Amino acid sequence: DTFEIAVLVGSLREGSLTRKLAEALADLAPATLRFKFIEIGDLALYNPDLDTDTPPAPWARLRAEIAAVDGVLFVTPEYNRSVPAALKNAIDIASRPYGASVWSGKPAAVVSGSGGALAGFGANHHLRQMLVVLDMPVMGQPEAYIGNLGSLFDDQGKVTSDETRAFLTGISAAFAAWVARHTTA
Ligand code: FNR
Repeated sequence: DTFEIAVLVGSLREGSLTRKLAEALADLAPATLRFKFIEIGDLALYNPDLDTDTPPAPWARLRAEIAAVDGVLFVTPEYNRSVPAALKNAIDIASRPYGASVWSGKPAAVVSGSGGALAGFGANHHLRQMLVVLDMPVMGQPEAYIGNLGSLFDDQGKVTSDETRAFLTGISAAFAAWVARHTTA
């Protein structure tokens, strides 16, 4: 079987190291997973007043894209010890209207990264807290806190160290097994 995986990257920055990390995880993943990177930078801030029968088009697009996948990979930096607002906003939008959350039941993995040594622990676990109420089975092990992102990639975005490549390959392989075990499709 092959599984469609939505990738949500918590940074909107063009040169985002977190995006490079997400691309590396996708590159190194088994062929059973097919990845779709989801745009979250064009979403108006969630406001229930706008959530009518004709919600903003980017909201409808996001909801349809998440509804169509078998699993979700979150790859995020940490902003002020938590999840960047852009990612929180996307999560909120696709969790509504009430009772129609498209996240429900989708297996997920959380990978956090940072340029420094702390590696986004705060963001990683704040995100895990959200996934509980969203009823997403989230992979516990292996955990993925990736530090020193600035030194992991070459100019082509390839992972330079064998050790890091092996670690990221293990994360993606474990996630593939997790999705196969928990998918409701
Ligand atoms: C940060 N950064 C940061 N880093 C960290 O490890 N812990 C933190 O709490 C924060 N807080 C924070 C707040 C804000 C508003 C910004 C803009 C940045 C640094 C950030 O994680 C770092 O720049 C990452 O490299 C960002 O990821 P991208 O954009 O390279 O993917």
